[in-house]
Amino acid sequence: MRVLLTGSTGWLGRHLAPRLAALGHEVTGLDVAPGPHTQVIGSVANRDLIEDTFVAHGIEAVIHAGALHKPDIARFPAQAFVDVNITGTLNLLEAATHAGHDRFVMTSTTSLMISQAVRDEVSDSAVWMDEDYGPLQPRNIYGVTKLAAENLCRQVQGETGMAAIVLRTSRFFPEDDDTHSDPPPENLKANEFLHRRLTVEDAADAHIAALARAPEIGFGLYIASAPTPFSRDDCADLKRDAASVIARYFPEAPALYAKKGWHLPASLGRVYDASRMERDLGFRCRTDFAAILDALSTGAPMPFAHDGGFVSPSTLGAGLIAP
Ligand SMILES: NC(=O)c1ccc[n+]([C@@H]2O[C@H](COP(=O)([O-])OP(=O)(O)OC[C@H]3O[C@@H](n4cnc5c(N)ncnc54)[C@H](O)[C@@H]3O)[C@@H](O)[C@H]2O)c1
Repeated sequence: MRVLLTGSTGWLGRHLAPRLAALGHEVTGLDVAPGPHTQVIGSVANRDLIEDTFVAHGIEAVIHAGALHKPDIARFPAQAFVDVNITGTLNLLEAATHAGHDRFVMTSTTSLMISQAVRDEVSDSAVWMDEDYGPLQPRNIYGVTKLAAENLCRQVQGETGMAAIVLRTSRFFPEDDDTHSDPPPENLKANEFLHRRLTVEDAADAHIAALARAPEIGFGLYIASAPTPFSRDDCADLKRDAASVIARYFPEAPALYAKKGWHLPASLGRVYDASRMERDLGFRCRTDFAAILDALSTGAPMPFAHDGGFVSPSTLGAGLIAP
């Protein structure tokens, strides 16, 4: 298919574009910042540019990964989030329905499920989060605008019948966490594969599965994250003593971690459940916590990317963010 990929210069886009091309798709990348997979430089908030791009490149489907996201909060005003994440999504949805597309895929975020209370971990139990979790009370402009974009997808699908799949993706960024420095970054990323992370390669492949399955589904919203080993019954213990629960599932984990000088988490505040994605899209992330332990036991490199200095390309295209 001739696919428009927004955010093609970004971390996800640069992994997704070549995978789509390898499957035979003709990919047109659109981003505010230049990059090897980006043919159109400009903003999704620019309605004329979107319409011209659809015509010039004969676009047949959209994967909308371009956005301002969490680290951008420090760099852009709230209005830019509204312009890019809400108006930009509406522009693409309307252009796609106008062009008669049968599918649309949007990257969303598990971050919109995190209220201030969940973030502060006030509960005496880990919070189990699947797609039915609510009421949703996003704590920042990123979450608020992504939730609005999700709802635009739902509403346009309901009104027009164009299939729309939303992937509520958990963490896959390569840079250091902007709020936690303990444990050190690689140790923290490894721990997150238990409950709130996936590799960028798995994130890309989830989008490919969504693109393929969308017409059979209509509207679908899925958490995309590495499969967690835990169940709801573990939630109280995970909050009280996560390391013991982990050792129950993975008896080899404490020794492998100790050998590396790493620490298992003492307490977990939330768990993302991606089983619906597996059931409906037939996609399960390849890299999970067991893969981390395999790498620790064989001495192989960690199966995830880590780049403490990565900065989103959106800063390079800052002048183009607004329409
Ligand atoms: N990185 C994560 O851990 C993570 C987690 C959950 C969801 N997501 C979502 O995944 C998607 C991709 O994120 P990423 O990690 O690749 O981030 P990224 O910042 O590396 O990539 C986003 C890209 O969007 C582009 N962009 C920004 N404004 C634009 C505009 N107005 N028009 C066109 N392009 C624009 C940026 O230039 C950038 O290249 C985003 O929708 C993000 O919200 C990311």
